[in-house]
Amino acid sequence: MASVRAMASTSLLCLINAKAAGSIKTLSRAGCSVCFRRNLSSSPSRLQSCMSAWVIDQYGTNGVLRYTEEVTIPTINSASEVMIKVYAASLNPLDVSMRGGYGAKLMKLRRDPFSVMSADNEFPLILGRDVSGVVVDCGSEVTHFTPGDEVWAAVPPWKQGSLAEFVTLTEYEVSHKPKLLSHIEAASIPYVANTALSALVNAGGLCRDNASNKRVLITGGSGGVGTFSIQLLKAWGAHVTVTCSQNAEGLVRGLGADEVVDYTAGDIAEKLETMDKFDVVLDGVGGDTEEYAMGLLKPWSGAKYVTLVTPLLLNTDSMGLLDGTLHAGFTLHSKAIQNILSNGVFYRWGFYAPDGPALDEVSRLVDAGKILPVVEAQFPFTQVPQAFQKLEQGHARGKTVVRVTEEDDEQTEELLQSSRLDTAESEQEVQETAKQN
Ligand SMILES: NC(=O)c1ccc[n+]([C@@H]2O[C@H](COP(=O)([O-])OP(=O)(O)OC[C@H]3O[C@@H](n4cnc5c(N)ncnc54)[C@H](OP(=O)(O)O)[C@@H]3O)[C@@H](O)[C@H]2O)c1
Repeated sequence: MASVRAMASTSLLCLINAKAAGSIKTLSRAGCSVCFRRNLSSSPSRLQSCMSAWVIDQYGTNGVLRYTEEVTIPTINSASEVMIKVYAASLNPLDVSMRGGYGAKLMKLRRDPFSVMSADNEFPLILGRDVSGVVVDCGSEVTHFTPGDEVWAAVPPWKQGSLAEFVTLTEYEVSHKPKLLSHIEAASIPYVANTALSALVNAGGLCRDNASNKRVLITGGSGGVGTFSIQLLKAWGAHVTVTCSQNAEGLVRGLGADEVVDYTAGDIAEKLETMDKFDVVLDGVGGDTEEYAMGLLKPWSGAKYVTLVTPLLLNTDSMGLLDGTLHAGFTLHSKAIQNILSNGVFYRWGFYAPDGPALDEVSRLVDAGKILPVVEAQFPFTQVPQAFQKLEQGHARGKTVVRVTEEDDEQTEELLQSSRLDTAESEQEVQETAKQN
């Protein structure tokens, strides 16, 4: 996969980024503000440089995935952006759904509000939501990262994904990768972590300081979100009950689950009803789970049911943006009112939200040994369709990861060396300018 063309494009990338157009770096030193403009080198061949990626040109089944070395490199477009060389990416159920067109209307609106009215389309579209990699370039206002930093992030679904050599994100979406993890291990965490944190904190009202001794039920505990959430909640001191298949019991207990209920053996609702009531239910299964889950919560005590399986994007896909959003809003509102009045519990929807600072906190928990990556399967970059097939079979036990760059890749080392040299040169230039002023 490390073709001559890709190598050539990567070295051109160094040139493009080291000398990015109009990029202004401002440093404040000893009370003086110095302006440094990077030189622009704009030969057409450089500006047309490409990278390798897996793309789709239409929505459909696995056959729509196409490998190409002709995707334009996503260079820095705004001062707050960070460009990352991707070492590893992981797949989520969302990738399979998006491959089939799920959420297409809302994502198109989020990418570019004007594109909804035009015939422009989103293709070629790059899937892949998790990235672990190395920073190769930073916008002029980036303060938290420098080239060479090892980082991880969850790429928002409205942005070009991580099944590519490079991805560009805003500084806010990125975090320093845990030191203890390889890129493959690190790529298994960001998207499920951002989802779990958003759902448990924003919708579930839990946090490090109040979760101790709270009783939490996680349905679908053996998958990506579940295996992460168990560990996060245990790190926060909560009591965690998990539903999963019998053959996943060892896994979830190993991650810290206090009680495990096998949903494949008998009536799950009946079994859960014999237990003490819960403060929070995190539902990763959906369907009829919510029908019995409300009755499992402590009434009139602020208990919350949070489901990750929501109809919002299905509604906007089938009914259009306005009707779909209104319909979803109406569904949420009526369920929330009904449940607070009849059961005294809150009904909420949980969503992934990009959040680099939240990943900083996760990084600390990982380096403290409190959260482990759960990598079930890994595939080389040549086998992305096989990785999708694995995910589509269901029954996940943690995450499926794609090795985008092999970690001993010489070409990447060269890129980083060059990047570090450019940074050193830039800083020297800034200091000289400062002295002259
Ligand atoms: N709203 C959002 O922003 C958001 C973000 C992330 C994920 N999600 C959704 O949340 C759900 C979970 O995500 P994920 O990444 O953890 O999925 P995943 O990795 O595919 O895991 C799903 C897990 O649930 C288990 N399972 C299936 N049916 C079950 C049942 N009836 N009871 C208990 N466990 C069951 C599966 O194993 P077995 O089949 O072997 O039991 C699997 O381990 C997915 O529907 C996903 O689309 C939503």
